[in-house]
Amino acid sequence: MRAAVITSFGAADVLHEAEVDTPVPGRGQVLVEVRAAGLNPAELLARSGGFDLPAPAIIGFEFAGTVAALGDDVTGIEVGARVAGWPDGFAQGSYAEFTLSSNYTIIPDGVSFTDAAATVIAADNAARGLSLLRPDPGETIVVTGASGALGGAAVQFARLQGLTVIGISGRSSLGYVESLGAIAVEHGDDLADRVRAVAPGPIDAALDTAGKGLVSTLLDLRGGTGRVVTLADPAAAAQGVTFSAGHPGNRDTRPVREALEHIAAGRWRTRIARTFPLRLAAEAHRALEAGHTGGKLLLVP
Ligand SMILES: NC(=O)c1ccc[n+]([C@@H]2O[C@H](COP(=O)([O-])OP(=O)(O)OC[C@H]3O[C@@H](n4cnc5c(N)ncnc54)[C@H](OP(=O)(O)O)[C@@H]3O)[C@@H](O)[C@H]2O)c1
Repeated sequence: MRAAVITSFGAADVLHEAEVDTPVPGRGQVLVEVRAAGLNPAELLARSGGFDLPAPAIIGFEFAGTVAALGDDVTGIEVGARVAGWPDGFAQGSYAEFTLSSNYTIIPDGVSFTDAAATVIAADNAARGLSLLRPDPGETIVVTGASGALGGAAVQFARLQGLTVIGISGRSSLGYVESLGAIAVEHGDDLADRVRAVAPGPIDAALDTAGKGLVSTLLDLRGGTGRVVTLADPAAAAQGVTFSAGHPGNRDTRPVREALEHIAAGRWRTRIARTFPLRLAAEAHRALEAGHTGGKLLLVP
């Protein structure tokens, strides 16, 4: 199969297309023919060597595709099924024509592979971050990074739960954030004051999906660390803020399935900025590194 392979870790150029053996599904695994692989900030770190992966490595932490073969003891799924999920190995990932997974959900009819791939990591982690805040309908929540993959998912889950959402983004994405049902506020100076000016009442909870030092604004808005959660700023834990990391032990297919069903029903928007073929994986990484992508970047093998 073709894959974007890393033989030594470093800058984006280390990603190069190569022909490698197609993996064989083990017990409980399916072989998936990858139709789209979402790009994620964590993959920039993995590519740079931050995950200490063995080389050669194929990264890519989410996928959508079709089931091509079943390993032993796999039940409830057939060859040809459309699925979205997480590859089982950090070094046998989705930047490839095929990957292995035991952690996936069915893609409902009418949902594209690109929309499905763009939803896996975003929906799982946004739902977990939101649930840690235990929001009640009618409350007001601030979501930073609202124009991003995680933030866009958090805004939409929050709106579906009956919350008023103030979504923070860059200027060019304010219209998109509003289209998700949030009150949009541009990041920048005096952010806390500008949020207070548009809030219908007190800020009941705050979710940071941007990092970039915005946690201090959220602490100001909340008057302390209570009901402030960050998914993007591990260092904020030193200030007593809850940081929640996604890892194989706390993945949940249910929010992904839920978001995909919302897409199928026309109640949920994904925003895809650009797709790249595998041979342009390095260019895709450079685009993600540059930031402010205006939507999800994906590889389409
Ligand atoms: N803990 C977890 O479980 C978990 C899981 C996945 C990802 N993450 C982390 O969550 C973060 C977001 O991931 P993503 O995939 O959603 O990324 P993304 O789609 O690239 O979104 C990034 C967001 O950050 C905003 N942003 C960028 N620079 C900013 C700045 N200087 N000030 C304020 N906002 C800024 C962007 O807004 P504009 O472009 O509109 O300016 C955008 O809304 C990353 O740090 C990632 O590592 C955590």
